[in-house]
Order: sequence, then C-alpha cells, then structure tokens
Amino acid sequence: MPTILAVETSCDETSVAVVTGDDRPEVIVNEVASQIPLHQETGGVVPEVAAREQAVAMLPVLEHALKAADAKLGVASKGAQPHFPIDAVVYTKEPGLMGSLLVGIETAETLAELWQVPARAVHHVQGHIYGAFAGLAPEDVQWPAVVLVVSGGHTQLWEMPGHLQFKLLGETRDDAAGEAFDKMARLLGLTYPGGPSIAAAAEQAGEMTVELPRPMLNEPSLDFSFSGLKTALLYKVRGRNLGQDEVAAWARESQQAIVDVLVGKTLRAAAQTGAKTIVLAGGVAANRLLRQTLEQAATQAGCRFLMPDFTLCTDNAGMVGVLGWYQERGIMKT
Ligand code: KG4
Ligand code: ZN
Repeated sequence: MPTILAVETSCDETSVAVVTGDDRPEVIVNEVASQIPLHQETGGVVPEVAAREQAVAMLPVLEHALKAADAKLGVASKGAQPHFPIDAVVYTKEPGLMGSLLVGIETAETLAELWQVPARAVHHVQGHIYGAFAGLAPEDVQWPAVVLVVSGGHTQLWEMPGHLQFKLLGETRDDAAGEAFDKMARLLGLTYPGGPSIAAAAEQAGEMTVELPRPMLNEPSLDFSFSGLKTALLYKVRGRNLGQDEVAAWARESQQAIVDVLVGKTLRAAAQTGAKTIVLAGGVAANRLLRQTLEQAATQAGCRFLMPDFTLCTDNAGMVGVLGWYQERGIMKT
C-alpha cells in the first residue's frame, strides 16, 4: 500500500498531505495554511512576502499534518516524526514562484534524506489534474480523457490516453482564466482572490444586463485568450463610479463569458479526441457555475465527468500526494 507524504508551496499556500490506500489513493490529511488575508492588503501576491511566509508556515504545517496522520492511522506520535511507514516524499518542483517553491523543495528533500526514502519532484499542473482522481481506483477512469486545467497561472487542455500520460492540446495565449477573474475583480473593486468574489457578486445580480465578448470561442483552435476580455471590461467601467447593481451585473457577465469559453473549448476538444471522460481541475474548478455547466455539457455529450472535491481545487498537497500515489504504484508494479 503506497503511502506518500506530499508538499506543495508553489505560490501562497503552504501545504502538507498524507495520501495512502491499497487499491485507491485516499487523502487522509491535507493541511493548508493560506496567505490570502495577507495578500488582500496588496490586492495580489507579492513574491518576496509569499516566500517569507512559506518559510514561517512550513514547520508548523508539517507537524500538524504528521500528528493528524498519526491520529488517523491510530499510532502514537511525538513532534515532527512520522510514526507510520512512508514510501516517498513527493513535492511540487515547478512551475511557481521561485522563493516559495524553494521552501517546499528544501523541506521535502531534507525529510527524504532523514527518513531514507525517495524524494520525487512533480509538475504543479499534473498535481492539479490528479486532484480529480482522488479516491478513484486506476480502473475507474475510462480513457481517453480530456482535461481542462484552470488556475491562476494556467489554462490548458490536455489529452490523457491513460494514467500519467499527458498530451497538450491547447492553452492560453495570454492570461490564465484565474488571472482573468483576479484582474476583472480588481477593475470592479472586488477583493482578492477574484474568482470567489466575482462569483459572490454575480449571485447578487438582478435585472440589469451587460455584454462582454467570448474570445476565440468560435475559432477551431483549442487555444484560449482572456486578456481581451479584461480589456473589454476596462473600457466599459473605466472612470465610472459603479453602483452595487452594476458591479453585480458585470460580475455575472464576466463569470458567464469565462465559463462559456472554457466549456465550449473543452467540448470541442472532447469531440476531436473521442474522449470518454472529461476532467476539470485547478483553482478555478472551485467555481460552481463552471462545475455545473461543464458537468451538464459533458453528460449531454455522453462523457463521464470528473472534478476534484472543493478542498482539492485551489493549491494543496493532497492533489500532489494522489499523483505520487499513482507514480509509486507504477514503480511497485514494475
Ligand atoms: O490553482 P490555484 O490555487 O493557484 C494557481 O496554481 O494559480 O488557483 C488560484 C486561482 C485564482 O486566480 C482564483 O481567483 C481562482 O483560482 N479561484 C476561483 C474560485 N476559487 C479560486 N475562480 C473562480 N471561482 C472560484 N470559486
Ligand atoms: Zn495551482
């Protein structure tokens, strides 16, 4: 039974998780310390501040995670020592903010050395994807799958012919979808991170209707472009003192425009590849409208739909541990 200790520090979340299971990966512990309140003061992440906070948070988060795992597994615990066997330490190596990443890299490599187990570096985007496979046995997924990864740093469509196989189909040519949420929220005077605050403001929208474009939606390419959407909003709201109803109307239209493009392109990719499964992953996968709309569209297209639990959408080590579990299982079998 592979047991993985996972570490994720690519941006402004410090996270340590334990993933284990005989026939399927279960995330038994997923400790996340978020810096969101700190970055709300500056309206976004300041890399040096994020790195310093990572260093402050790492050891307490590690200690909590190990203690929580000891308790879950029913073993006695003392300090930052695991009292259960660990097969590998898996950590996010790239991409991300260098100063933040280094805290996780150093921690994971040191623990692996101390415990005499392998340390394995993984790609952050592949970690996000595996958040959607938590709790699923390898044979539960029907291939090929098309995966939409939407986060603050990435907007990509991948084809997966099987586990741990990735072929890039398309990606954003400029801003990522999460970045669009964040920048558009700022234009509307809403707080960081923009995704949740735009979603909350959209809920308040009433009769008023406003319009934004759906960039590249009808082009055959599987690439995305979101910077024009942000600029379109800028021209509409610049220099104006928006009332609450106007902010809500623009928030609803911003969210709808992003979701329309993401869902349209994902369905196009699924049709082109003959996908049996559509997977949604990344921080923006926490968006309820996107979850519902893509699930409906996937079902209508005859595809199975998979998405992560809310706790495995925005950056967390649980998703990294699930990827590590699948890698470890492959190694154990060979
Ligand atoms: O995956 P993530 O935590 O970090 C990166 O790898 O970038 O994603 C963060 C992004 C932010 O842009 C945030 O605005 C967005 O995910 N996000 C959301 C929601 N929750 C987080 N976007 C839309 N709706 C949400 N509910
Ligand atoms: Zn991420």
